[in-house]
Amino acid sequence: MLKNRAILPPQTIGIIGGGQLGRMMAIAAREMGYQIAVLDPTPNCPTGQLADHHIQAAYDDMDAIQQLTEISDVVTYEFENVDLQAAKYIEEQGKLPQGALALEITQNREKEKQLMKRSGLPVPDFAIVHDGEACEQAMAELSYPAVIKTCRGGYDGKGQLKLLSEKDLPDAMNFADQHQHCIIEQWISFDKEISVVFTRTQTGEITIFPIGENDHKDHILYQTTVPAQISNAVKKQATKATKKLAEEMQVVGTFAIEMFVRGDAIYINEMAPRPHNSGHYTIEACNISQFKQHILAICGLPLIDIELLQPAVMINILGENLKPLLNMMPTMKHGFVHLYGKAEAKEKRKMGHVTFIAEDLETLNEQIDQFKEATTHD
Ligand SMILES: Nc1ncnc2c1ncn2[C@@H]1O[C@H](COP(=O)(O)OP(=O)(O)O)[C@@H](O)[C@H]1O
Ligand SMILES: [Mg+2]
Repeated sequence: MLKNRAILPPQTIGIIGGGQLGRMMAIAAREMGYQIAVLDPTPNCPTGQLADHHIQAAYDDMDAIQQLTEISDVVTYEFENVDLQAAKYIEEQGKLPQGALALEITQNREKEKQLMKRSGLPVPDFAIVHDGEACEQAMAELSYPAVIKTCRGGYDGKGQLKLLSEKDLPDAMNFADQHQHCIIEQWISFDKEISVVFTRTQTGEITIFPIGENDHKDHILYQTTVPAQISNAVKKQATKATKKLAEEMQVVGTFAIEMFVRGDAIYINEMAPRPHNSGHYTIEACNISQFKQHILAICGLPLIDIELLQPAVMINILGENLKPLLNMMPTMKHGFVHLYGKAEAKEKRKMGHVTFIAEDLETLNEQIDQFKEATTHD
């Protein structure tokens, strides 16, 4: 069994998914001397550029999954939509310490919300619907505004529709008819969105990174600010909810929980069973990054106690921000640039991020105001 068996360099870590999260895991692992194998259909993908082995195949190609499992001593993933059959196979081989359960729950909003509710945690009121008629009935119980989401496969605001008033009901009913398995949630008019990124080991040791405050633009994370400007009451509840979910799901590795804050109340939004965009700031602002802590956890090694070295702001670089960033770099005195090596700078595509750290949030704000001014115009 994998329990208590430490994976040590230069053993091989297999990663399902070759995007930026896999790439940053690979960088952290390589620093420690591990070898990397990645499964991703795209040639020269962000993680492939740094891997020792690139298996170029679909994520649900069982031959490829077998091959990855064979050449790897431990396997992890960078996204939640891993084929469950594949995950179970790798788990049976004793090489998936994160387990298939966290995937099964986080790839299905129905299971996810029900688990949170069952655990006694605050969530927006919701209903599960399978067609337009059920959607209409659900809206008789819930109030406007609300949001309807597909239970599977949504990300960056894709696969959801906001219902501002009864006028939007026919569109929502069509949406439910079309997608069939949907969740309707009460819209929470939150003051802030926060996320808690944490890491848990196979033996139940847990470390929690400082809570980040997230700003979205067009449903895509734009900026994370740390520490989040929240009350101690909110911090306490968020931490308690995090520990509860971590135990409930027997999480292993780095994991993130998104929450809404209204006054002193929190509502849990969703979970990601992997490092998270809102945790990228940890690379420069903490004594250990979310990626390195993830590698320690899946390799069965003890975690490092976390310290925030300086307040931080992380800003995402989308396709349309790339050129302005490159134009600015020769004169840029602040900010740590990370680019993911993606071939095409398509609009809204996450191409990289920049992290600013400084003694205090005031100094940070001066630095990023200047940066935003320069990078939002071409
Ligand atoms: N019930 C809700 N109340 C208020 N805002 C919401 C609600 N659900 C989603 N949102 C907004 O939409 C964003 C994306 O929704 P989310 O459920 O996190 O899906 P995704 O998988 O696309 O990240 C959230 O970060 C939040 O800003
Ligand atoms: Mg989200």
